[in-house]
Order: sequence, then structure tokens, then C-alpha cells
Amino acid sequence: MEPIVSIRNLVNAFGTHRVHDGLCLDILPGETLGIVGGSGTGKSVLMRSMLGLRTPQAGEIHVLGHDVYSSGPGLQQRWGVLFQKGALLSALTVRQNVELPIALHSDMPAATRRELAQLKVRMTGLSLGALDKYPSELSGGMIKRAALARALALEPDILFLDEPTAGLDPMGATRFDNLVSYLQSSLNLTIVMVTHDMDSLFNICDRVAVLVDKKIVVGSLDEIVQSPHPWIQSYFNDPRAVRARQKEKNNVRAN
Ligand SMILES: Nc1ncnc2c1ncn2[C@@H]1O[C@H](COP(=O)(O)OP(=O)(O)O)[C@@H](O)[C@H]1O
Ligand SMILES: [Mg+2]
Repeated sequence: MEPIVSIRNLVNAFGTHRVHDGLCLDILPGETLGIVGGSGTGKSVLMRSMLGLRTPQAGEIHVLGHDVYSSGPGLQQRWGVLFQKGALLSALTVRQNVELPIALHSDMPAATRRELAQLKVRMTGLSLGALDKYPSELSGGMIKRAALARALALEPDILFLDEPTAGLDPMGATRFDNLVSYLQSSLNLTIVMVTHDMDSLFNICDRVAVLVDKKIVVGSLDEIVQSPHPWIQSYFNDPRAVRARQKEKNNVRAN
């Protein structure tokens, strides 16, 4: 299977501080890939690199067969993004936020655009009443859903999520995970998700990519858990991780 994202020998540095040093990663079409790693290991920088928003010191990144650094805006329409910070434009309503990418990238008539935005908002489980609200009037979970609706506005092939459940309570996080999983299968998306949330990793990710030693170690959860790397060992043997894994095993047995 041809990878949908292919990263080769990526080097990112800030001054003398190297964040990535010869990092390689292939992301497969239709998978949900979780990216984990300690704070400041370069997860967000990696995501920004895949989006062509940061020019690396060295390396190549291809998305859907195109070089992200030399391809035009056409490629950008094929992915949706939920950034770690600044999910929505605060001066715009939910409807206006979701309509914005459609207005920027298509010449769809206003009435159709409106209906499409409405559909995307409903898809993320928000009521129509949320459409005319401003971000300041919404809960954290509703903001994430509205941002997800915006990310889906152009019917992307790939969805990039940077710590989407950070700041949500555990029930809100579980509901968001279920939503992501539902959208993945119904829209046939490839999902690349940076996360700190063990439950998300165990519940919805097909494979895990761990950022250690400025590179990526990637595999199925079962493979990664068995990696001898000390950081990976301590991360996955943390009591919270063990509980999440146990819960997942029980769920599989119950189903
Ligand atoms: N614009 C920037 N200027 C300087 N250093 C940066 C910049 N962006 C990120 N860094 C540094 O790169 C490293 C990785 O950052 P980041 O990708 O945000 O980490 P995280 O894994 O927590 O998402 C950090 O040490 C951070 O300080
Ligand atoms: Mg980050």
C-alpha cells in the first residue's frame, strides 16, 4: 500500500537545538495514527512540517504523492486540521467559521455554502442552535466539535489533530474519541492525531508513532508496548497506561 504521507530524513532545528534528526515515517491510507512523545519533543513541529507550514533544515515530505514544499494550495484542500491552539476565530460565529474555508477555496453559491456548513456542524453532533453562537458562548467540548466541523468543511482525505482532547473532562474526551472514530469510518479518513490521552490511543488508534531520540518509532500498540526503549517503557507502564490497556482488553472481551 502506498503511504498517504511519507517523511524521509527530516531535520528540524531552532538555532543549535535539533528537534528532529533524520526522522522517517510512513502513514498509511485509512489508518488512525497516534503520535506520542514527551513534552517539547517536537510533535507539533512535526505536524506543522507535514502541513508545509515549516521549512525543515533537511528532508523530504510527500503527502498524497506531492512534495508539500513545492505543491500549490490544491493540496491544502485535501486535509483538515485541528491545531493545538486557537481552534476558532473568536470574532466569527460557528457558522461563519465553518463557511470560511469553503468561501476561500470554492466558488460555491452562498446558499449552498450555508447548507454545507450546517451539514458539517450536524455531523459533529452539535445542534443547529450552535450555528449562530460565538466561540465565547460555547463549552470547550463544543468548540472542539465546531473546529472539527470546520476541518471537515472541504471534505478532506486526511485529518490532522493536535491534542484534540486536551482540556476536556474524561467523559467529554471519550465522546470526542467516539466521534473521531465514527467520522473516520464513515468518511474513510486517514487520521493523524497527536495525543497525551492513553484512552484515545487504546480506543481509536490503529498504530502508534513515538517521538524519541529525535526520531520516530512506529508500530501497532502491542509492538510499541514491547519496545525496550526506556522512555517508551516508562510511558506505557505508567499506572494510567496500564489501566487504559486493561479497560480496552475488557471492552474487546465484552464485544
Ligand atoms: N517557533 C519556534 N521557535 C523556537 N523554538 C521552537 C519553536 N517552535 C517549537 N520550538 C521548540 O521545538 C521543540 C518542540 O516543540 P513542539 O513541537 O511544540 O513540542 P511538543 O512535542 O510539545 O508539541 C521545543 O523545544 C520548542 O521549544
Ligand atoms: Mg505540541
